[in-house]
Amino acid sequence: MTSRWFAIAFALCLLILGVLITCGFSALIRLIVDHQVALRQGGQSFGWWSKPPVEPIIRIFVYNVTNADEFLNNGSKPALDELGPYVYKETWEKVDIVENPNGTISFNQKKVYVFSEELSNGSEDDVVIVPNIPMLSATSQSKHAARFLRLAMASIMDILKIKPFVEVSVGQLLWGYEDPLLKLAKDVVPKEQKLPYEEFGLMYGKNSTSPDRVTIFSGIDDIRKYGIIDKYNGKSHLPHWLSEECNRLNGTDGSIFPPHITPNTTLYIYDKDLCRLLPLVYEKDVITRNDVKGMRFTPASNVFADVETNPDNMCFCPAGPPCAPNGLFNVSLCQYDSPILLSFPHFYQADQTLRLAVDGMSPPEKEKHEFFIDVQPDMGTSLRARARIQINLAVSQVIDIKQVANFPDIIFPILWFEEGIDGLPDEITDLMNVAATVPPKARIVLMIIFFALGGLLFVIAVFCLIRRSHRQSTLHLEGSNYLATAQIDLAKKKAKENKK
Ligand SMILES: *[C@@H]1O[C@H](CO)[C@@H](O)[C@H](O)[C@H]1NC(C)=O
Ligand SMILES: *[C@@H]1O[C@H](CO)[C@@H](O)[C@H](O)[C@H]1NC(C)=O
Ligand SMILES: *[C@@H]1O[C@H](CO)[C@@H](O)[C@H](O)[C@H]1NC(C)=O
Ligand SMILES: *[C@@H]1O[C@H](CO)[C@@H](O)[C@H](O)[C@H]1NC(C)=O
Ligand SMILES: *[C@@H]1O[C@H](CO)[C@@H](O)[C@H](O)[C@H]1NC(C)=O
Ligand SMILES: *[C@@H]1O[C@H](CO)[C@@H](O)[C@H](O)[C@H]1NC(C)=O
Ligand SMILES: *[C@@H]1O[C@H](CO)[C@@H](O)[C@H](O)[C@H]1NC(C)=O
Ligand SMILES: *[C@@H]1O[C@H](CO)[C@@H](O)[C@H](O)[C@H]1NC(C)=O
Repeated sequence: MTSRWFAIAFALCLLILGVLITCGFSALIRLIVDHQVALRQGGQSFGWWSKPPVEPIIRIFVYNVTNADEFLNNGSKPALDELGPYVYKETWEKVDIVENPNGTISFNQKKVYVFSEELSNGSEDDVVIVPNIPMLSATSQSKHAARFLRLAMASIMDILKIKPFVEVSVGQLLWGYEDPLLKLAKDVVPKEQKLPYEEFGLMYGKNSTSPDRVTIFSGIDDIRKYGIIDKYNGKSHLPHWLSEECNRLNGTDGSIFPPHITPNTTLYIYDKDLCRLLPLVYEKDVITRNDVKGMRFTPASNVFADVETNPDNMCFCPAGPPCAPNGLFNVSLCQYDSPILLSFPHFYQADQTLRLAVDGMSPPEKEKHEFFIDVQPDMGTSLRARARIQINLAVSQVIDIKQVANFPDIIFPILWFEEGIDGLPDEITDLMNVAATVPPKARIVLMIIFFALGGLLFVIAVFCLIRRSHRQSTLHLEGSNYLATAQIDLAKKKAKENKK
């Protein structure tokens, strides 16, 4: 009797569990994922984060100027020849990692670049002709200075034989060559305005441990801040721009993001050379290596738009108006006042006039020139990425300096690069596939098991109970008959005794 009631209780428990799984399983999985991805010293994700088991690659395309003399003397458009790719394999590592008690981690980023002969189309020793960036920066900056300063500058450049174009190897352009102007500046300029180096290279000093100390949230306290920068060199904001919002740097480095990403999520990445947060919005679903499903995020099409198109960008124009043309981002404040403007390669999503101002640049193509990151939405891990940026120099014509008197106002493309990863190692993608496919299946299987088993047990138990109570009531009737007959017998007996 009690065992049947027990069976019913058990069946009800199973049914309740089934309901709980239907409603709460996703939340449970979320909890487990959040616990697993958070950066705990000794944890698996901590290992992957601190020493990513990926092979990042940077491909660099250099615009070789093939008509420097005609451009300067005859006023022709610059003719550019896109060379490359020059490919470097990278190794990333975080060093000097310190876990802080407030749920943050501080570290320095170490990157090592090794030239890959077999992946490249050309060698590091290829000689190219490119604009003399230190010189053109100096002359463009002197535009608003006193005239005698410009004349003095012209004679110094005469003595030092500085020309508006330099002939350097690709390796020198990237990693540094001795520049007479920087050398001079280092000796002359007062200490506090000093440039930090006397060599010039677009990636100068990057093949090492970065001196920048980064503090990010580990996600242990609050998973919604997972991977987001708390402090960069002790500061939570940039000093350059006009509003708090534009000075924010609380994005991630692009390798991890707060998990549970939906198509409505905006991802933010921060890079020092980008000089701002880059917002990324959902573009489409993609399948990446080893069939891992991901979501592609790209910069919103108006990130680098001019202030007429996107008035929000007004805060990035402290000296303006006029502000940067459509499709360009002025990073001069982050580059020691060099007039460097960033864009996407081939002026993707910028005004066509910029591209048509030079010869030899093909129209932009989305597949080749778009900046994107494919992320695994549940865990917030980058699966594939192409960070594509073009570096341009904004040259101003300065009549008083004879070397550049014929150099017109122009946005001069120097090079573009794509840095990224193609896929994660199999051990991680396998795990992701398991994590993405098993929980939903497990949920259905568990639901079926609990509902079917619980339901079946319940029906059986109830059935047995009903049958038993039915049998009991017949028994009870027989019993009362027996009692009745017994009474009759007793009455008969009594009657007999009375007769006697
Ligand atoms: C770059 O252009 C210059 C001038 O036309 C040429 O001499 C040089 O060979 C070119 N470099 C390469 C690597 O093609
Ligand atoms: C420069 O322009 C002149 C006429 O404008 C032309 O005759 C000459 O061939 C040009 N020189 C070059 C090197 O293109
Ligand atoms: C967390 O602690 C680190 C190191 O003490 C500090 O630099 C950082 O500002 C703190 N962050 C927050 C959000 O309190
Ligand atoms: C970067 O540094 C490593 C050693 O730390 C060296 O092997 C490599 O050649 C360097 N790469 C470049 C491009 O200088
Ligand atoms: C390699 O570079 C040359 C020009 O320097 C170009 O013509 C050729 O198409 C490039 N090859 C590849 C595979 O990109
Ligand atoms: C960055 O910080 C601001 C407040 O300072 C906050 O509103 C915003 O949500 C943060 N962004 C991210 C991506 O955490
Ligand atoms: C995305 O936002 C739209 C409207 O803002 C909303 O209707 C939709 O439910 C959101 N989707 C998700 C997955 O949050
Ligand atoms: C870039 O910004 C600097 C500093 O704000 C400014 O002086 C310069 O004129 C700007 N350049 C362009 C092309 O907008």
